[in-house]
Parts: sequence; C-alpha cells; structure tokens
Amino acid sequence: MNSVKLAKTPLTLSLILCITLYFNVVDAFFNLTCRCFPGDSCWPTTHQWDNFNMTIEGRLIATVPIASYCHNDAFAPYDEQKCAHLKSIWGFPKTHYESSSSIMAPYFANQSCDPFLARDAPCRIGTHVQYTVNATNFFDIQKTIAFSKEHNIRLVIRNTGHDYLGKSTGPGALGIWTHHFKDIEVIDYSSRYYTGKAVKVGAGVQMFEINEVVHAHNLVVVGGNCQTIGFAGGYSQGGGHGQLASTFGLAADQILEFEVITSETKILTASQSLNEDLYWALAGGGGGTFGVVLSMTSKAHPELRTAAANLTFTNAGISRDTFFNAAKIFITGLGPILDAGGVSIWLLTESMFTTTPTTIPGGSKDQLQKLMDPILQTLKRDNVTYRYFIEDFPSYYESYQVMNPVSNITEAQLGGRLIPRSLLDSSPGVIMNAFRNILTLKNTALLSGVSVNVSRQADVQRNSVNPAWRDAAIDLVVGTSWNYTNWDNDLANRELITNKLLPELEKITPGGGAYLNEADSAQPDWKQVFYGSNYDRLRDIKQKYDPDDTFYAITAVGSEHWTQKADGRLCTS
Ligand SMILES: Cc1cc2nc3c(=O)[nH]c(=O)nc-3n(C[C@H](O)[C@H](O)[C@H](O)COP(=O)(O)OP(=O)(O)OC[C@H]3O[C@@H](n4cnc5c(N)ncnc54)[C@H](O)[C@@H]3O)c2cc1C
Ligand SMILES: *[C@@H]1O[C@H](CO)[C@@H](O)[C@H](O)[C@H]1NC(C)=O
Ligand SMILES: *[C@@H]1O[C@H](CO)[C@@H](O)[C@H](O)[C@H]1NC(C)=O
Ligand SMILES: *[C@@H]1O[C@H](CO)[C@@H](O)[C@H](O)[C@H]1NC(C)=O
Ligand SMILES: *[C@@H]1O[C@H](CO)[C@@H](O)[C@H](O)[C@H]1NC(C)=O
Ligand SMILES: *[C@@H]1O[C@H](CO)[C@@H](O)[C@H](O)[C@H]1NC(C)=O
Ligand SMILES: *[C@@H]1O[C@H](CO)[C@@H](O)[C@H](O)[C@H]1NC(C)=O
Ligand SMILES: *[C@@H]1O[C@H](CO)[C@@H](O)[C@H](O)[C@H]1NC(C)=O
Ligand SMILES: *[C@@H]1O[C@H](CO)[C@@H](O)[C@H](O)[C@H]1NC(C)=O
Ligand SMILES: *[C@@H]1O[C@H](CO)[C@@H](O)[C@H](O)[C@H]1NC(C)=O
Repeated sequence: MNSVKLAKTPLTLSLILCITLYFNVVDAFFNLTCRCFPGDSCWPTTHQWDNFNMTIEGRLIATVPIASYCHNDAFAPYDEQKCAHLKSIWGFPKTHYESSSSIMAPYFANQSCDPFLARDAPCRIGTHVQYTVNATNFFDIQKTIAFSKEHNIRLVIRNTGHDYLGKSTGPGALGIWTHHFKDIEVIDYSSRYYTGKAVKVGAGVQMFEINEVVHAHNLVVVGGNCQTIGFAGGYSQGGGHGQLASTFGLAADQILEFEVITSETKILTASQSLNEDLYWALAGGGGGTFGVVLSMTSKAHPELRTAAANLTFTNAGISRDTFFNAAKIFITGLGPILDAGGVSIWLLTESMFTTTPTTIPGGSKDQLQKLMDPILQTLKRDNVTYRYFIEDFPSYYESYQVMNPVSNITEAQLGGRLIPRSLLDSSPGVIMNAFRNILTLKNTALLSGVSVNVSRQADVQRNSVNPAWRDAAIDLVVGTSWNYTNWDNDLANRELITNKLLPELEKITPGGGAYLNEADSAQPDWKQVFYGSNYDRLRDIKQKYDPDDTFYAITAVGSEHWTQKADGRLCTS
C-alpha cells in the first residue's frame, strides 16, 4: 500500500483498514474461508469435546483407526497376530461397517493407517473422521449439527461406509454415524398417492435386515445386490438399482416419505404432500447433503416367483474375436430380457465373462430359458466351454439368497456411465467396440454391467433421479484393480479411468449421464453427468434447507462451492 494514497484519503482508508481488520480478527477467531482443522486454534479444546460428549450421553467416539495395531505409531501397541487377523478379514464389509470410522474405498483411506503397509509405515487419523457420534436418537444428531456449526467443523454423515466416492468420510471431520438406527416396521400406508404395504426403516437398516423382515411378511422391497449396503442412506437417496428394478423401478421410486433433520436442526417430514421439494431432492439427488435422514418409508410389494440363471465362460482355447463375439451376443442381446421385466448383472474382463445372475422376477424358468437360448447356441456353435445354471424359485427372496454371491468390499477404483437403450438397439457393435477399446487400453480392467429398464412403471411420480437413468439399458462400471502396496500405480490407474477409459464410453454417449453412486469421483462436468437437468433445482433446494453448507460431500449437490486442499482442509473456493 502506498503512503501517498494514505495521506490523500484518510477517511476511506481507515474505513477499509477497519473493515479489513475486522475480517482479520473474525477470520482468526473463526476461520471463515475454511472449515476449522485439527491443530488450528479454532479447533475445540479437549474440555469442549468432553462437554459436548456429556450433552450426548457419552456417545462421542475419538477415532482410533482399526489397523492401529499393525503399526508402531501412537494409538495401540503393535500386535502381529491381531494385525494378521485383521488383514484376513479386511475384504468383509462387516470389518468396516461395525467401525465408526473405517473407509472401504482404499483411495479415500489415503494409506492413513493401512494394514497392508509395513509395520513402520505411519498410522494416522488422516482422512478418517476425527470424531464420530454414535447416534441413537434425534437429539444426538441435533446436538452434533449444532456443535459442528458452532465450531465451524466439517460434518459428515456415515452409515455403512460403502460409498465409492469418499462421501462418508472427511479429513478433519466430525461424523454422524447412523448405523444403530435399526427400527423396521411393516405398515399399511395410505395417502392420496399410494395405498398399500410399506416399510418404515431407521437410517441404519441394511439390506440383509430389511430382506429378512419383508420376506416374513411375504413382501419384497427394491434393494441392492450387495446385502450389506444401507437401505435408507446413500443407496435409496442416490437412486438404488437391483434385481427388482425392471419390475418396480429404482429404490428411489419406491420412497413414500422421509423423516429428516435439517441443518437448522428441525425435524421435518418430507413426502409428496409435505415439504415436497425436499422429498423430491432426497429421492434420487444423492446422500450426505440435504439433511440427515432419520427414517424412510418405502413401498413394499407382494412376493413373486422368480427365475434366475447364471453363466460363465472364459477365453480358454478360443480366439479373442470368438470370445468377444459371444460376450456381445449376450450383452447386446439383453433387450428382450429387460422387456420381460428382467435384470442382468454381468462382468466382462479380457479373459472372462460371467452373469451372476440374470433374473426375471415374476417369470418362469421356461421363459428365461428361451431368452437365454441364443447365447447358449452361439457358445455351442463356437465351441466355447461354459458353466450354466438355471432355476425356478418360489420367491424372489430364495432366488436372491441362492443366486447372489456375497459381496466383499470393492477393492477397485471405478468410473461409470449409463448406456442408453437406443444405442443398445441401434448400434450394438459400437458398444462392444468401446468395451474392447477399454480392455485394449488396460487389459486388467473390468467392465461390470447392470442391465435394467427402470422406466417400465410409467405411472411412477418422477423424482430427482438423474434423467439419464430413465433411458438407460446398462449401468456400466469400469474398474481397475487396487494394489495396497503400490500407491503410485493406483494413482496412475485413477487418472487412466478419468482420462482414457471413461472417455471411450463418453464418446459413444455424448451428453449422457452416470449413476452418482457408481461413478468416478474425479468426473469432469459431474454436475451435468451425475444430475443432468435436475442440477439447478437441486442446488436451489440445497440452499433453502442448508443455507450455510453445513453438509458437504464430494460431488454432492452444492459441493462446487468447496475445495479440499492437499492436506484435507476444506475451504470455500
Ligand atoms: C460392494 C458394493 C455393492 C454395491 N451394490 C449396489 C447395488 O447393487 N445397487 C446400487 O444401486 N448401488 C450399489 N452400491 C453402491 C451403493 O449404493 C453406494 O455405495 C451407497 O452410497 C451406499 O450407501 P450407504 O448409506 O450404505 O453408504 P455410506 O458410505 O455410509 O453413505 C453413502 C452416502 O450417503 C450419505 N448418507 C448415508 N446415510 C445417510 C442419511 N441417513 N441421511 C443422509 N445422508 C446419508 C453419506 O453421507 C454418503 O454421502 C454398491 C456398493 C458397494 C461397495
Ligand atoms: C485458518 O485457516 C488457515 C488455513 O487456511 C490456517 O492456517 C489457520 O491456522 C486457521 N486459523 C485459525 C485461527 O485456526
Ligand atoms: C465420551 O464419554 C464416554 C462415557 O463417559 C466415554 O466412554 C468416551 O470415551 C467419551 N468420548 C471421548 C471422545 O472422550
Ligand atoms: C473376500 O474377503 C475375504 C476377507 O478378506 C477374503 O478372504 C476373500 O478371498 C475375499 N473374496 C473374494 C471373492 O475376493
Ligand atoms: C454404539 O451404540 C450402540 C447402541 O447403543 C451400541 O450397541 C454400540 O456398542 C455402540 N458402538 C460403539 C463403537 O460405541
Ligand atoms: C450358479 O449358481 C449356483 C447356485 O448358487 C452355483 O452352485 C454355481 O456355482 C453358480 N455358477 C456360476 C457359473 O456362477
Ligand atoms: C467346433 O468343434 C467342431 C468339432 O471339433 C469343429 O468341427 C468345428 O469346426 C468347431 N467350430 C469352431 C467355430 O471352431
Ligand atoms: C422400458 O420399458 C417401457 C415399457 O415396456 C418402454 O416403453 C421403454 O421404452 C423402455 N425403456 C428403456 C430405457 O428400455
Ligand atoms: C503390488 O505392487 C507391488 C510393488 O509395490 C508388487 O511387488 C506386487 O506384485 C503387486 N501386487 C499385485 C497383486 O500386482
Ligand atoms: C494423503 O497422504 C499424503 C501422504 O501422507 C499426505 O501428504 C496428504 O496430505 C494426505 N491427503 C489428505 C487429503 O489427507
């Protein structure tokens, strides 16, 4: 600043100085541009955390990374046996969802306390949440929101921790853990819009729990293929596909109402007739940003007989062309199965194709067999050896139990794209070419598809699910394997997905979308790709119910106002 000016405009300048000083003081006292970070002077003292803990009846958990006994650092003494055991169960989702902080997606764990690294590798809280509130009632959540606002601390909602995009963790964050909201009630619901059976579930209920209960009532709900994901959390709020999605629509389409706590710590009911805008946003607009859902009420449907088949073949003894031609016949020939209300979950790599399973809920074995015949004939004609199994099940539940392999955590990095039905019908060769290009660029990549038609129920009230879902025939995921001890290679794979592999799919689906729960967290233009034409309205609803951006999650609605710095600090951009 120049002293001549200073002499010339004393009044204006002192005003400016005064304002600047004011902001400096406020900034120093209460960091305005960034969330307060551990180590900052604004970070609460131990005494303040203790006081907070007392107001929530001792439910505050200070994070101790679950792999701490694999390292020399701080938290716990090194214990070889415990560490070996932990490594042997690391792939099971339970290892992580029973923890208040553990992160399944390895990229977002950032090797903070990685059991597969050497004993002398650091073990830090790192990208885990710093503290978590093991919430069991409305007041726990209300007080946690208030405390995080008072101290300007990053707030994260954690349910099971399955999220692929790192949305249920955050460096320097305080977590609200919803896992123990386990109530399940089967009810008769009646409103202007729906009369029939429904389930009301607490935010922490997982697929395997709800499936048991509805089956006992001879009912089904639209749920995921993975038994351990949360039903009311990121899954249903983000869309939610599964083997019943061609029959009834997406999980988000089944939602009748939510009980939700907003950033202003009010408890609201959101439905088609109450706080309709919030209801619309929460049904499909993604978890972690509009408020904390306490409970969700969703439609339940009568049980139905189900036919299911699985099929596996490899490239052993056949040419690459023969192998990919067989895969093409299956994948691009799924239209009639979708039209019959079926869903196919399949996986294609350079050397193997498998569908586990392909299902027609409400259909018969004969019907499904006829639809499988073209691929089986091709396999026979081309001398491809395969394993095949088909069965009629008296209920969807039994089909799900027998045909659905148990899911581990996903130790892969991924990106995704919704492939439109029109492209499948008009240009099957174009789709298969793109898949082959991807496998040529990265021969260890995997392509995982859920082939489905979520628009067969024309009367369903439209919600904020990405419109691209409505035209889709395949939710496609591209994955690259993770190596716990080769971080540089993992980072290179991540860039490969964003810059090389996904563009092969973007090229053939210009202006298209992706499923926000199964996508690349570094997706350029994510607002358009994940939310399509719904984005602006979603952002307005976010501003209305969370004007201070109390909730943040990477790629969630409203997150464009924030940037996470290299050290994890979250600042407004
Ligand atoms: C092995 C595996 C299999 C999968 N299979 C399927 C599948 O078949 N179909 C499918 O559609 N998806 C599937 N997914 C993706 C799944 O839908 C997402 O991972 C989803 O985010 C899981 O939700 P969650 O609540 O269990 O997880 P979390 O990671 O705990 O949370 C996910 C997001 O939801 C937010 N959230 C959680 N609870 C609440 C709440 N009460 N209120 C507000 N926000 C909340 C979190 O803040 C976060 O942003 C699968 C994922 C994995 C890892
Ligand atoms: C405010 O944030 C900055 C980083 O942007 C940090 O260096 C500083 O310590 C913080 N101030 C206080 C008072 O915590
Ligand atoms: C909170 O209080 C409970 C009960 O007194 C205690 O067990 C727990 O360790 C406390 N949490 C923290 C982070 O201090
Ligand atoms: C699943 O995880 C468990 C525990 O880590 C592991 O033993 C098992 O091999 C994994 N299964 C698959 C199919 O990867
Ligand atoms: C969380 O709370 C539930 C319900 O009170 C309790 O059963 C569980 O042990 C708690 N978990 C932790 C890690 O404190
Ligand atoms: C198909 O499912 C049956 C029944 O669960 C199982 O025994 C078989 O191994 C599966 N086959 C393939 C190819 O996945
Ligand atoms: C399949 O095998 C039969 C018998 O061995 C052979 O005659 C036929 O040419 C083979 N077909 C192909 C496509 O390889
Ligand atoms: C889904 O099925 C309906 C009803 O059969 C049909 O009109 C629609 O075109 C199909 N959509 C997709 C994307 O397959
Ligand atoms: C993982 O990377 C290490 C090098 O850091 C290598 O030795 C190892 O073979 C890799 N593992 C796999 C399964 O590729
Ligand atoms: C991830 O780990 C690296 C290496 O330890 C560290 O420099 C970086 O700050 C961490 N990132 C985050 C977001 O915490």
